[in-house]
Amino acid sequence: MSRALLSIFPALALAACGGDPAPTENTGASATGPAATNTAVAVESVQAANAQEMSPDAEAILASLGSAYAGADLTNGARQFRRCQSCHTLNAGGRHTVGPNLHGLIGGAAASADRFAYSSQLSEAGLVWDLETLDAWIANPRALVPGNRMSFVGLRDAEDRRDVIAYIAVETAGE
Ligand code: HEC
Repeated sequence: MSRALLSIFPALALAACGGDPAPTENTGASATGPAATNTAVAVESVQAANAQEMSPDAEAILASLGSAYAGADLTNGARQFRRCQSCHTLNAGGRHTVGPNLHGLIGGAAASADRFAYSSQLSEAGLVWDLETLDAWIANPRALVPGNRMSFVGLRDAEDRRDVIAYIAVETAGE
């Protein structure tokens, strides 16, 4: 819902900017007709842009995460992930930095990346990174696993967590 609304705002801005030939004729009684047409065209082009942004693969991955993730905003997810990027890579075979590479994370056992020196607290917690556990970790890693070594306060906002988890899922799927 909110995503659809958001995509209308830039469309209105585009319509307001004109861009169609002969906007000067859109005065007086005929104003609503052509303006409405412009808006419709702009909405279509914005929807096309959004559709391009989210590949069919990404849509399928989001669908596989369940209905709670259907409205996930991958652009916001990427933005939120910038806070993780100083310590984590996502690409297949990516380097461990301060934290472990997170490729193939979702659904797997915690603390299972090769050649990363996890804390004993995280190694021994016996966690599996299902979506709920991951959500709890990102919300407050210290509360989920006291004494672990990830120095991150947590993301308070549930939608930000949903979006960053969706982003991780899409970015780390496959090879
Ligand atoms: C300051 C560095 C830092 C930041 C920022 C950070 N992490 Fe971490 N992360 C770590 C470290 C270090 C560990 C390993 C913790 C341990 O062994 O106790 C870790 C572990 C993890 C794990 C467990 C990985 C596994 O293999 O089991 C996940 C998932 C994770 N981080 C996700 C995130 C996400 C998502 C963000 C951003 C919202 C984030 N991290 C931000 C340093 C960081």
